[in-house]
Formats: sequence, structure tokens, C-alpha cells
Amino acid sequence: MAERPRVFVSRTLPAPQAVERLREATALDVWSSPRPPTVDELRERVAGCEGVLTMLTEAVDARLLDACPKLRAVANMAVGYDNIDVTAASERGVLVTNTPGVLTETTADMAFALLLAAARRLAEGEAAVRGGAWGPWDPAWLLGHDVSGATLGIVGPGRIGGAVARRARGFGMRVLYRGHQPVDGFPGERVSLAELLGRSDFVSVHVPLTPETTHMFNAATFAQMQPHAVFVNTARGGIVDQVALREALVAGRIAAAALDVTDPEPLPPDDPLLSAPHLLVAPHLGSATRATRRRMAELATDNLLAALAGERPEHLVNPEAWERRRR
Ligand code: DGY
Repeated sequence: MAERPRVFVSRTLPAPQAVERLREATALDVWSSPRPPTVDELRERVAGCEGVLTMLTEAVDARLLDACPKLRAVANMAVGYDNIDVTAASERGVLVTNTPGVLTETTADMAFALLLAAARRLAEGEAAVRGGAWGPWDPAWLLGHDVSGATLGIVGPGRIGGAVARRARGFGMRVLYRGHQPVDGFPGERVSLAELLGRSDFVSVHVPLTPETTHMFNAATFAQMQPHAVFVNTARGGIVDQVALREALVAGRIAAAALDVTDPEPLPPDDPLLSAPHLLVAPHLGSATRATRRRMAELATDNLLAALAGERPEHLVNPEAWERRRR
């Protein structure tokens, strides 16, 4: 009987059936601590493996890949894969996969929850109730922004951006989007980034983190937004220059921001960003429902097992590595 491939999974998966499938098909090693492995721990555990199932917390870089010469596949349990040096993986013929599609609606729900919460100042209201600051009903207290009839600008009209746009239409919003190409059937008007920033009452970000999108939201872009605008980010923290965001909130250049992602994560409780007014921060919960996390784990498992069986995984992000392996 052929020896089973060695696989490391970097966190306990909320998907018993996926773990069972991995256990049957591979020699499985699962990281059981609730904290992620350190760089050294990851290197040590992946060193002799042919496959690894990672979270977005694991940096898979050239150093790690060089220390793991048997590695054939990295299955990331996330749609984003900015934690992986894909070029380095491709150069070494290592297949990299992600989990698109299964978290679209769940993440769009989170973006919309943040949009509504920021618009209606829910976090401030809740803090006031718990902090004893809830006085008699006041016609001018904690006034927010109407969502219905407002304009939403979507930066990144991909799957999640589209799902947010559909929700917005249900709320009677006008939708603008900024994308490199027109998107067939997208429920909104394609405009330049400058026009989107200038016209939107709400701006929601849905681009991947790449060198081009790093600090795409900075002092200059916040300055182009309307002073009553609300900024929502459920993509990646690195897309935003957080010093500039803090300044924009303090100076009232924008009205509010709601973030599900920050740089770094976790954001230290004494990070200056947290002292900004009208800021709501969630701890990267975009895909955090039981069903979605189970689907993500299942999909990452499908991808990994296909790659280890010599098949082309469905959600391969580096086809060049596949070509390289076939040469
Ligand atoms: C992803 O899949 O990239 C998300 O950020 C996880 O919630």
C-alpha cells in the first residue's frame, strides 16, 4: 500500500467530517492550540509534509517553502491568500488554493451589518446604555445617517461586492462601483474611483490585498470623500492607511468608519486608531458563521486532497505551478 501523504492542519477545524476525510486519506497532524503556530513552530511541523491546510494567520513565504522541500500543496482556508507568497510557491511548483464562493453571502451580511451599525451609531448607543449615559429621550441625541435612498460606492465589484450591492438595492440605495472592467449584470453604475468617492454616502471595500491596493485608502482618498460619508472595510486591513483613517475621523473629514479587518490583527487595545471617534471595529468576523466556516473547511479539504491525489484542484490560484509540476 502506498504511503499516505503527510499533512499539517494549522488549527482545529470546525468541520468534523472534513477532518475525518483528511484522517482517512493522509497521515494527519493537527495544531490543537487556540493560538496560531509561530513561524518556527509552523516550519517544524510542515517540514516533512506534502500538504498543509493553513489559515490567513500563517505566513507561507519563501523561507518556509525552502524548509519544506516535500511540500506539494498549500490549501488556504480563506478566499484571500495575501498570507502566501504565491510567486515563491509557483517557482517551487507548490499548488496554492483558496475557498471562494462559500463565504460570499456571509461576508456581505457582515459588511451590511457594519454599514447599518455605523450609520445608526449602534456601538455608541450600546456603550451609552451600559455606561449609564442613557438620559431622557432627546431629539438631538446620537443622530445617524439614513441608509435608504443613500448612495453606496463599492470598491471591488467581485463576488462579495456584488452581494453587498444586491443588499443595498433591497434597502433602496443607489449603487456605484469602481472596477477595472465593466461587470455584466452588476446592479450599479461603473464610475472612476474619484467620482465614487465624491458621490457616495457609504463606501464599502471588497478588493484583495495586493501591492497595488496596499494603503489604497489614505489621506488623499479620505479627503475626496464627503464629510458625512461612512467607510466600511471587510476586505483586508492593509488596504487602509490607519494613521490617515484616524486623522480623517478626528478631523471630521468623514463621518464614521466600520472595520472588520485591521493591520495588524489582533489590533492591540492601545492602538491609536481605537481612540478615533465614530469608529466601530469587529475582530475579523466576516465569514464567522457555523455553516460558512464548515463549508470553508470542506472546500479547503477538497482542494488539498485533490492536489495530493495529483488532480488539478478546483480553486487553484497559481495555474503556473500546475503547469510546472506537469513538465
Ligand atoms: C477570507 O476568506 O479571506 C476571509 O477574510 C476570512 O473571513
